[in-house]
This record gives sequence, structure tokens and C-alpha cells, in this order.
Amino acid sequence: MLAVIGGSGFAQFAGLEAIRRADVATPYGAPSAALTFGTIRGRDAMFLARHGDGHTIPPHEVNYRANLWALREAGADRVVAVAAVGGVRADLGPGVLLVPHQIIDYTWGRRSTYFEGAGATVTHVDFTHPYSEPLRQRILAAGRDAGEPMVDGGVYAATQGPRLETAAEIDRLERDGADVVGMTGMPEAALARELGLEYAAIAVVVNHAAGRGDSKGGVSMERIEAMLQATVARARRVIEALTAAA
Ligand code: HPA
Repeated sequence: MLAVIGGSGFAQFAGLEAIRRADVATPYGAPSAALTFGTIRGRDAMFLARHGDGHTIPPHEVNYRANLWALREAGADRVVAVAAVGGVRADLGPGVLLVPHQIIDYTWGRRSTYFEGAGATVTHVDFTHPYSEPLRQRILAAGRDAGEPMVDGGVYAATQGPRLETAAEIDRLERDGADVVGMTGMPEAALARELGLEYAAIAVVVNHAAGRGDSKGGVSMERIEAMLQATVARARRVIEALTAAA
């Protein structure tokens, strides 16, 4: 079954005909919110608000382990994450939808593996290609079906937050090869891999990153908020097309 993890601006899924909500307990604590089960275009799906129902959980405090565990426990085998990002590359301005193909992890101090603690065997998962390529391709095809063209591929830099970056940090991310920057892509993608879940993301560019474009003098939260409002329906249409085609 398909699971959708909604990020900032995407705390509910308007296209999901909700049948029931369930609190799922995990060995890692509680997920960000109750899971919502229902149908999208007639297909079973589930939804989880990454930052909680009321957008109260900041990126560094999200219980990513509980979230992914709960989704798998509830029967998910594919996870599409929706995440707001800043555009590092000049041509990736607000309003662009991008399906990243790579990640660089700059986060720290997050619980980022299931393979630790008493009794756990030392396990190293392959993470060369952090996103599921078949799922990426299905998302891109869904974007075409929905009339929402998306950029195929990009390097997602995961920063710690919750503060935004300095202009020099963005310059460094660009030198590192990053195209977009967000705060939640990791450890979410790695945990999905550890659990054997197919995982891919729709990155919604809501601002030029710090020091770039119209964020030269600073990143405007008001503009980010307005961009989230303007783009959420587009991401939703892509997911609806994705489920319709599945
Ligand atoms: N930086 C980090 N995370 C973000 C940004 C950004 O500019 N925009 C949205 N999420």
C-alpha cells in the first residue's frame, strides 16, 4: 500500500477519502500523528503528517524511526514523501517541483538507524542510490499525467535546522553539488531503506535558498508560507495521478 508523508503545508491530504485514523504504537515511541487510512482515486492509501497534525514538531525533533516503523507496521510498502525545500541552484526557484535522485546528509544528533542498541547485530545497508528509481519514475510519469511537469533528479542537501542557512553555507552546499536544501530528507530516506520500503520524494521549492535570487537580503517566511499554499494542491494532484496509475 502507498503511504504519503506530508511535510510543511501538507498536514492534511485533501484528496484522501479518509475512512479511519489510528494511533500506532512502535518500539521507538509515537509517530508524529495518528495515521489516516483511506482511498485516493479508489486505491487504498495512508497518510502521515510529518510535523504533527498542528505542525508542532520541528524537523530535528521528528521521530523518524517511529514514523517509518508505524507506516510499515500498518502495511505500507511504498512511501512518497512531500517536502518543502529551498532552491540552491539558481534555476530552481519557487514553484518548481523536483524529484531528487541523491542526498547529502548534514544533519546531526538524530536517531538515524534501527540497527543499534542491545541485541542489535551490526548492519550496514547499501545506500548508493538513496531513492527507489522505479518509484521516482512513477512519480515523474504521474507529474506528466497530471499536467504538473517535474524536474527529474537533483541532489537534496539535508540540513539540521530549524534555523535556515547562512549565505556562505548555501555557497558551500552548491560547491558540494547540492541542488535543493531541506531539513527532513534524512534520516527519513535511510530508515525507509533499512525497513525495505520503496521511498522517493517530491521536493517542492518554496524559496530561493539564503543569499540567492530574491532571498539575497534574507529568506521571507511570509513568501514561503504563500508558496506552500500555492503549491500544495499541485503536489496532491501528482499523488492522485500516481495512485490512479498504480
Ligand atoms: N533551507 C532549508 N530548508 C528549507 C528551506 C531552505 O531554504 N526552504 C524550505 N525548507
